[in-house]
Amino acid sequence: MRVAFNKPTFLGNEPDYVSSAARAGNVSGGGDFTARCQQLLQRQLGSARVFLTTSCTSALELAALLISLAPGDEVIVPSFSFVSSANAFALRGARPVFADSRPDTLNMDEAKLEPLITRRTKAIVAMHYAGIACEMDSINEIAERHGVPVIEDNAHGLFATYKGRQLGSLGCMGTQSFHGTKNFTCGEGGALLINDASYIPKAELAWEKGTDRLRFMRGQVEKYTWVSLGSSFLLSDLLAAYLFAQLERREEITRQRQATWNYYYDNLEQWANESQIRLPIIPNHCSNPYHLFYLVLPDAEQRTRLMQHLAAHEIESAFHYVPLHTSPMGKRFGGRQGTCPVVEEMSERLLRLPFYTGLTEHELARVVAVLHEFEPVTS
Ligand SMILES: Cc1ncc(COP(=O)(O)O)c(C=O)c1O
Repeated sequence: MRVAFNKPTFLGNEPDYVSSAARAGNVSGGGDFTARCQQLLQRQLGSARVFLTTSCTSALELAALLISLAPGDEVIVPSFSFVSSANAFALRGARPVFADSRPDTLNMDEAKLEPLITRRTKAIVAMHYAGIACEMDSINEIAERHGVPVIEDNAHGLFATYKGRQLGSLGCMGTQSFHGTKNFTCGEGGALLINDASYIPKAELAWEKGTDRLRFMRGQVEKYTWVSLGSSFLLSDLLAAYLFAQLERREEITRQRQATWNYYYDNLEQWANESQIRLPIIPNHCSNPYHLFYLVLPDAEQRTRLMQHLAAHEIESAFHYVPLHTSPMGKRFGGRQGTCPVVEEMSERLLRLPFYTGLTEHELARVVAVLHEFEPVTS
């Protein structure tokens, strides 16, 4: 039987929540379930305000609107990330400047950050790979010294912590994804977390398509009108209902994923050591949201061999992030081969194993057994 790489989290009671939103007539954005999700996230993360959005991509685009970018501005983004970490800012006319990664966590290397800052730098995007935190104290300290806001792309790391503090709440703003591949999903969805409250008034306008509709709903103005740039960022309440069903049971979902992650780690550790394969590194001061499990192979050729070996046994696997700085679009923004050497190397060596809520122990045992049969060719 085929082992899928990913299946969306599904607990079973999501359709009941969706039908309750539908019966209440809450199909557009801004309904009861939207409010409940926003309140839950605000309470858990300690953000000043949370706005549900149609995706993490749109949350990043909303963040880009709030920092008022102009052509010629620069935004520092990790090269090892999803395109949206850069695209959202490029859409507003800014030039992404690509940062290299640390070899251990694969996160933006804070030691290489400061030389990338110029007087045109308007933001730093810190993406927590696999939900393991970037070195946020150093990144925030550098950013503060230069007066630049930090935006956390926390698509992978909802409810994970850095030195006991929630990811997404550490920068001026944070973004979340509820895409089908994430721990908690409603198919397509996201959230913008506002931590620096000075962005809230502008966010309220931009989130509501550039109108002061929220002020109108609160009775603060008699009619609402166009007052700023904005777009259609609101998530349908039907999807918020689906999402709420999962956020409510976040501990159960996390426990299941933790068991999967630990099974891989415990059963692969010795084999990995003997095969010069590296398992994920989790610094002591970071907690793990159990979003994904990856291996770092000795080189690109071994990775291809292992992928083929798994595929021959009907086990799906995937690599992650073709570097942004050497992508066709990255090159148009000045990205050059050789400028992010760690990203260039690690992206060729990384392989992700099947990982999702509900992966059975039987499937896990099969993946592990097939991995144990693999011996990398060492020179
Ligand atoms: C780091 C990161 N940021 C942003 C996104 C975009 O998320 P969404 O699909 O919700 O727009 C992804 C998608 O996988 C991602 O991995």
